Amino acid sequence: ASLPGTWYDTHMMARHPHSGSCRQDTPADMISAVYCGWAAADCVVVDGVRRSADPGRTSKREFASGLYDWRDTSRSAMRVAVWVNNSDVASRAGGPPDVQRWNQPLNLASSAFLRAARGPGASASLTGVKDMPRGSSRLSLDFSSLLGPLFMMWFMQMLLPVNVYSLVHEKEENLRMMMKMQGLRDGVYFAVQYIWMVLLYCIFMGVFVLVGGGIGLKIFTMNSYSVQAVFYLIWGNLLASWSLYFSSLSRNARSAVLTSTVMIIVTGFVANLVLVQYVEHGPAVVARILQLLPSFALFRGLYELAQYAFLADRNGGPGMTWASLRDPDNGMLTVWIIMLVEWAVLPWVALYIEAVRGTGTGVRKHPFFFLGLKYRTEAGPRGAAGGGGTEANKSPRKVWAWGGRTASPHLPGKGPAFRPGAAEAGADLSRSQSGISTASSSFSSTTGALDRGAPSPGDALAHYYGSEPGAALSPQLARGVSSLSNPEALQTLAAVLAGRIGDGARRAVAEDAGAGKPPAPVAEAAAPRPAALELPIPAAEAGEQLRLDGADVAAEAARAEAAWADWRGEGRGRAPSPPPAAAGEAPAILLHHLSKVYPGAHGCDPKTAVDNLSLAIYRRECFGLLGPNGAGKTTTIRMMEGFLEPSDGEVIVGGHSIRNEMDTVYGLTGACPQHDLLWSGLTAREHLMFYGRLKNLGGEALTSAVAEGLASVNLTAVADDLAGSYSGGMKRRLSVAIALMGDPLVVYLDEPSTGLDPASRRLLWNVIKKARRDKAVVLTTHSMEEAEALCDRLGIFVGGRLSCLGDPKDLTARFGGYLSFTITTPPHQEAAAAAVVRSISPSARPVYALGGTQKFELQLQETSVDAVFATMEEIKLKGVLDVIDWGVSNATLEEVFIKLCSSSGIKLSAFT
Ligand SMILES: Nc1ncnc2c1ncn2[C@@H]1O[C@H](COP(=O)(O)OP(=O)(O)OP(=O)(O)O)[C@@H](O)[C@H]1O
Ligand SMILES: [Mg+2]
Repeated sequence: ASLPGTWYDTHMMARHPHSGSCRQDTPADMISAVYCGWAAADCVVVDGVRRSADPGRTSKREFASGLYDWRDTSRSAMRVAVWVNNSDVASRAGGPPDVQRWNQPLNLASSAFLRAARGPGASASLTGVKDMPRGSSRLSLDFSSLLGPLFMMWFMQMLLPVNVYSLVHEKEENLRMMMKMQGLRDGVYFAVQYIWMVLLYCIFMGVFVLVGGGIGLKIFTMNSYSVQAVFYLIWGNLLASWSLYFSSLSRNARSAVLTSTVMIIVTGFVANLVLVQYVEHGPAVVARILQLLPSFALFRGLYELAQYAFLADRNGGPGMTWASLRDPDNGMLTVWIIMLVEWAVLPWVALYIEAVRGTGTGVRKHPFFFLGLKYRTEAGPRGAAGGGGTEANKSPRKVWAWGGRTASPHLPGKGPAFRPGAAEAGADLSRSQSGISTASSSFSSTTGALDRGAPSPGDALAHYYGSEPGAALSPQLARGVSSLSNPEALQTLAAVLAGRIGDGARRAVAEDAGAGKPPAPVAEAAAPRPAALELPIPAAEAGEQLRLDGADVAAEAARAEAAWADWRGEGRGRAPSPPPAAAGEAPAILLHHLSKVYPGAHGCDPKTAVDNLSLAIYRRECFGLLGPNGAGKTTTIRMMEGFLEPSDGEVIVGGHSIRNEMDTVYGLTGACPQHDLLWSGLTAREHLMFYGRLKNLGGEALTSAVAEGLASVNLTAVADDLAGSYSGGMKRRLSVAIALMGDPLVVYLDEPSTGLDPASRRLLWNVIKKARRDKAVVLTTHSMEEAEALCDRLGIFVGGRLSCLGDPKDLTARFGGYLSFTITTPPHQEAAAAAVVRSISPSARPVYALGGTQKFELQLQETSVDAVFATMEEIKLKGVLDVIDWGVSNATLEEVFIKLCSSSGIKLSAFT
């Protein structure tokens, strides 16, 4: 019973004269006939039944042993089940089954029934009955040849998503941009990636062919290995090219992988169901068109290999050989041609797409850049006033060099050009025609003054700045202004002074007039009056209201405008001069009306992150960008680096535009991004070696630069540990060392000291101070201490605009507006001490009083440090109070920063 077995059931009804309704037992003659048929070779039951194809076999052996279950068989009806033992068949695993004639026992039973039913003379004509089953034969349908092309096609494309992921991932994580910024060219990057992908494929395919051939898949074993090798190699190269192309279309790694995987699966089915039809039944041209898609070309090649293997296996002979390539139906040669053409073309298409679409690879190029065409800015400096209504006054816009498509739409809701948060403060000189004409009228008189040797723009600025409490023209600003040689630039500055700065400029002009010079015909009513901004602040802080008149920002914009005019004139393309600073030195970084609007996503409004920023930063200067979170500092830096494409405006680095000469600009910059962009699988030394090589360092110079870089950020001890195992501070230090590799002209450090311990921070400061000696350093930080220690100039950003600008001391002096005064007396003299303080500054603001120690803010309009000292000396001499201790200091930068933010409507609670 445990043996595997089977049974055959048959029934037969015969019309018998004696058949009745009552059941009869199985006739004994039937049983004996069956037994006789099986046991006796000469007991012929039905003629021909036991005839054997093998004369050597006895008839007895031709009948399998069986168990007859006659069930309710009678002379009028037969229903019988035959149980047979096929255990010997089952035991022959792997071999062909022996001949077993299961129909013989059934035939015996049938014949016996007929005789029993119809009498001895009855016979059944079993014409056409054959031995069943036939002798086993080998199944020659090779699985690999039939379904092989589909599975092999899927398998051989498996590296596409892998390649695409690594390529797009590097773009998405900005690693690509990081390498690019350090000098890696797109072509070199593609070449390196290409070689890597082909090597990976060769290993993958080599293992596949070895295993497939080893287990005897006909598609490998029957076809010529050299033909296969050429086909597989062509495909491997096309796969790499195709991966580059595919990755150029996307900036999101996950969606790129998903798309490529779905495409592979779908094209597999389509090829198997549709392409095969066209290949086999035509028209052939449709098949060829479909094969232009690399997946289909691959399928066709595999299909041909499979067909040749199948036929060779069935009919004998070789599979596909070199000679078979000439066979009329063999599409392999066409496939090779298509693949080779696509292989050569796709990387260039990919490079082009990346260049003009900018899918995470920085600033886009002109669509016809390969013809030498560039984006350009229309002639005439932006905002320059060379006489009302002249050509130069036209509001310039960047345009496509061909086709006239405007590439710089005006930003929605853009405010005035030169003042922070000053929507109410007048027209935009650069964009508003009325603003320009007003400016021109006042400018012409100023120009007249200039022509007659009256105060230079620098003097006028100095004059203006000098009129502000505690303010002075910073050395950098003075240098920038005095260096203007271009008459257009001077005109621009003069126009800005007269028309935009407002009170200060008007005072300067009025005083010029008083000194015997022709009075300036400034139309007071018509001239835009950028009065001091009255920004809304909480009532409780009314005493802290800041007077932001935007003059410093306007002056900087004027200087940038002048430098821009200079750059667009004969000075264009001039690299910054080497130290020491020569008069007329171009700024290392020039931002000209730079703006960035992030498009609104998910129904949100577009976000203006940087709004119309003009700034000139010179070599040997450290410029600090301060501002609350979300102010636009990182966005600004990213545009300077060429990471992000500006929505409007221009950045000139070392005399080169980021719009058209980004490849050159990359070579001049070093960047430490806000979030570390490191490879966790590389050590610090490897990082620096890699970036050093990109900066064209080699040999001894590279080794010493790497050692110096590691030492400067105190990473020598862990130089050979993987960056992935570093702490946050160590990663930060490595990022700074990378930024400084290769002696770049400009260095961008976005919050470099975040997460550093105090000792490392001091070390970092020394590194930055050293870098400042011959580079332009742009630094963002939230540490006021750091800003004061490192920066020559600071710009405080709020809401994408510069609120104020100057050197740290200048800013605290200008915007602090008070002195911090602390006095300690015995507790019972607190009231007397407060009275003394009020005698110095009647509106002194008490900050705290604790056990005899009191702190006040003394308004600078009411007193000065000298006056405080004099009063305290007097008190000491007269012995009015028992002064235990006292001190006076200027407001700190931090206090200024907080007040600026609060004045700009940002919640103080976020900063205190
Ligand atoms: N990719 C982006 N898409 C949309 N909006 C963005 C994007 N990146 C930045 N922003 C927005 O732009 C504004 C400026 O962001 P940015 O990162 O430049 O600020 P930040 O001054 O560097 O701030 P932090 O001090 O926090 O680093 C923010 O409001 C931010 O939400
Ligand atoms: Mg930032």
